[in-house]
Amino acid sequence: MGNKGEIKEMDYVDAIMVIDRNGRIVYSLRFNPRFDKDGCDGDFENIINKHFLEVYPSINPKDSSMIKCMEKGESIYIKQQMFKDYKGRIINSENITIPIIKSGKVLGAIELSKDITKVEENVSTFLDIRNDSQNTSNASANYVFSDIITCNADMIRNIEKAKIIAASSSPVLVYGETGTGKELFVHSIHNHSDRKRKPFVVQNCAALPETLFESILFGSTRGAFTGALDKQGLFEEADGGTLFLDEINSMPLNLQAKLLRVLQDGKVRRLGANKDKEVDVRIVAATNVEPTKAIEQGQLREDLFYRLGIISLRLLPLRKRKEDIMLYVNHFINLYNEKDKRNIQGISDEVKNLFFSYDWPGNVRELQHVIECSSNFSDNDAIEIKHLPVYLCEKLERGNGNNGPCLNDRLDLGEKDNLDSIIEKIEIEMINKALESSGGNISKAASLLKITRQRLHYKLSKYNINVKYR
Ligand SMILES: Nc1ncnc2c1ncn2[C@@H]1O[C@H](COP(=O)(O)OP(=O)(O)OP(=O)(O)O)[C@@H](O)[C@H]1O
Ligand SMILES: [Mg+2]
Repeated sequence: MGNKGEIKEMDYVDAIMVIDRNGRIVYSLRFNPRFDKDGCDGDFENIINKHFLEVYPSINPKDSSMIKCMEKGESIYIKQQMFKDYKGRIINSENITIPIIKSGKVLGAIELSKDITKVEENVSTFLDIRNDSQNTSNASANYVFSDIITCNADMIRNIEKAKIIAASSSPVLVYGETGTGKELFVHSIHNHSDRKRKPFVVQNCAALPETLFESILFGSTRGAFTGALDKQGLFEEADGGTLFLDEINSMPLNLQAKLLRVLQDGKVRRLGANKDKEVDVRIVAATNVEPTKAIEQGQLREDLFYRLGIISLRLLPLRKRKEDIMLYVNHFINLYNEKDKRNIQGISDEVKNLFFSYDWPGNVRELQHVIECSSNFSDNDAIEIKHLPVYLCEKLERGNGNNGPCLNDRLDLGEKDNLDSIIEKIEIEMINKALESSGGNISKAASLLKITRQRLHYKLSKYNINVKYR
């Protein structure tokens, strides 16, 4: 590693990331599909506004070039940094990190990275990193069912179902969009079962290079392939316990067929070995792609789906259980109040309205980050619109991502409009619509708007809306 004055020239750049002074990712662009198999900047939506250490959990904060760069206020050059991203993918990169400074204050940092990953050369390093990380391999199951917060009837049924199935050894398939709580369910199932004192082994299937997948899953014998060692696979590691295969739809199809065989006869054979070994492993698999869609798209074998999905849990996205929103808001406000010694009381009515109209593509995780981020800016009272992350306000201004209503289609926005005035316009429009539908009946209009009569009265006087001639 070098400091100011030692910066080397990079002949090309594969990725750019910008973080703010709190470590939140405000911009990320990956030019090289190798860096990101989902395609150029394919992960943008998933990682934006997350803390960069959450996206790259294997980076030790003490060694982080981003943190050092901001602490010193100086550019940093790192010749080689090996780490894992939030999907568990191994990345080896050369980096230049430059501080963003305004009026002598460090506002954030920009990192330019060149991908120097060569999977074939890194078999042993890969295995070392895998074993070091709690994201993969023998992790601990941290959650129990009481950690799962919900008042939605479907989700409560899921919890009840999961408690019952925890007792059996049948495989389980958990489906839910990103951030819906799959991990919470899988950990809780393990902790609620007789296997709770036995290994809990986690592998994100999207993280494994195809060439190593089979040996990691089933183990290998020395000489089975170049560089192969006598090593047990994940099945043997998990013997007696639970093997959590996350993003199962990223497992190569030929291996899905082999997995199916293990599920059927309970035996594994190390690569290069001539004998099977019996294992007692409970498989829990998760996917954030709708299983039938994954089958249609050739990502998931139908026969494996039928075997895995004998017991399946479908976790609802947050937009389909809006009654949970305030539970999470209060829970996360309390959490960060305690953690950061604050005394935030709640969210303003406007924020509440926004939260209820937003689609939450990142689900509970996104809501948690929004509360965490906003509580940093709130002054011990309520979280208001001005405290929300910029990306959220921008999305809402654009009309809630792709499928929400587009404000421009509905309202004439003047140059002087800002988010508060736009929200006021929407409120006025909604109130007028409700009054028209209710023929001027305030109680009915309030119930259409799902607010109390008193609140509607308050808003009518605030916006000077006349009710008489409807
Ligand atoms: N029902 C819930 N109650 C409390 N917290 C929740 C709940 N669901 C999700 N969370 C919070 O959201 C975070 C993300 O949840 P989790 O890791 O289980 O998502 P996931 O479905 O596995 O997402 P991904 O597909 O991205 O891995 C959790 O760490 C937790 O803080
Ligand atoms: Mg997960």
